[in-house]
Amino acid sequence: MKLINILMVLLFTFLLSLGFIVTASASVVNSAHDLSTRPGTVETDKICAFCHIPHHAKNDTVLDYNPLWSAGVQTSTSFIPYTSATLDADMTGDPLVGPSRLCIGCHDGTIAVDIALKADSNRMIAPPVRIGVGATLASDHPIGFDYIAAAAADVEIQPATTGFAAGTIADYLFNSGAEQIMTCATCHDVHEQGGPHEQFLYVNNTGSALCLSCHIK
Ligand code: HEC
Ligand code: HEC
Ligand code: HEC
Ligand code: HEC
Repeated sequence: MKLINILMVLLFTFLLSLGFIVTASASVVNSAHDLSTRPGTVETDKICAFCHIPHHAKNDTVLDYNPLWSAGVQTSTSFIPYTSATLDADMTGDPLVGPSRLCIGCHDGTIAVDIALKADSNRMIAPPVRIGVGATLASDHPIGFDYIAAAAADVEIQPATTGFAAGTIADYLFNSGAEQIMTCATCHDVHEQGGPHEQFLYVNNTGSALCLSCHIK
């Protein structure tokens, strides 16, 4: 090893020991979902509270999944779903079943992201990255359908028993009665960013790896 290389290794080890080199954090803390760090926030010492609170959580009956929810709730059950002539999935249900409703509560831009913590008219604006604007998901990857039935009908879709992220695809589907629903939270991990995955994705999409986990193409 050349002297310069040895010096670089020593410098790297030294900086790492001092914490200058941040290794993959994989946490909601300091992620885009850490709203305590957003300019204009009133609540700078809490992170979870923007979405979950231990008491007095939202009790809207429209929430079929309610992890002690404190953030906005999109109550519409008639969002326009994706559709196409080649689709096998049954898209007749409410596309926001399960955790997707929680995401849309902030991401369609109609509800302030800090509604839980600031009860006046001067709330933080909705996220700059918006999905579901105008109550339509027609131009977004299909969600809200039974994955098992879709995979059975489409030979180019992997069965739910296929390996995916830290488990199988089935582990990332929302159990709704007899159906296992694909949702926003099938692809996205709302709590993780800054780790090995970008855009809160469970599987990094480099080389379209995320898409190829499910699509046989
Ligand atoms: C920006 C909103 C947001 C923030 C901030 C947030 N969560 Fe969540 N959390 C969600 C959503 C949405 C779900 C449902 C996601 C899903 O089903 O994958 C969830 C689900 C959960 C669950 C139940 C499912 C699971 O993954 O175990 C727990 C527990 C949880 N969050 C804890 C926390 C804690 C603790 C914090 C703070 C350190 C936190 N969350 C911060 C949005 C948030
Ligand atoms: C409490 C409000 C809130 C909830 C609930 C919420 N988000 Fe977000 N999300 C935000 C905000 C605000 C930003 C933009 C932060 C910024 O300005 O960088 C964001 C950013 C994102 C980004 C972009 C990250 C990046 O790297 O730029 C993705 C992807 C995302 N959210 C997905 C989701 C999904 C999926 C859910 C549900 C599982 C969800 N969010 C729930 C408020 C929310
Ligand atoms: C099939 C997987 C998949 C599903 C389902 C999915 N997303 Fe995404 N999402 C992605 C990928 C991949 C990206 C990154 C796109 C890029 O970088 O060009 C992304 C990006 C985003 C972004 C940030 C940038 C942008 O393109 O606007 C937001 C916000 C977001 N998704 C929210 C959502 C919400 C809310 C839902 C449910 C309504 C959802 N996603 C469902 C795969 C998915
Ligand atoms: C968790 C599994 C999963 C992931 C990840 C995923 N998809 Fe899908 N996708 C599906 C299923 C299931 C369908 C419905 C197939 C059907 O009904 O024939 C679908 C439908 C589609 C459709 C519509 C097909 C049609 O006939 O109209 C397209 C296009 C598509 N996905 C592209 C993508 C792309 C691009 C990515 C990566 C960004 C991706 N998908 C990631 C499971 C997934």
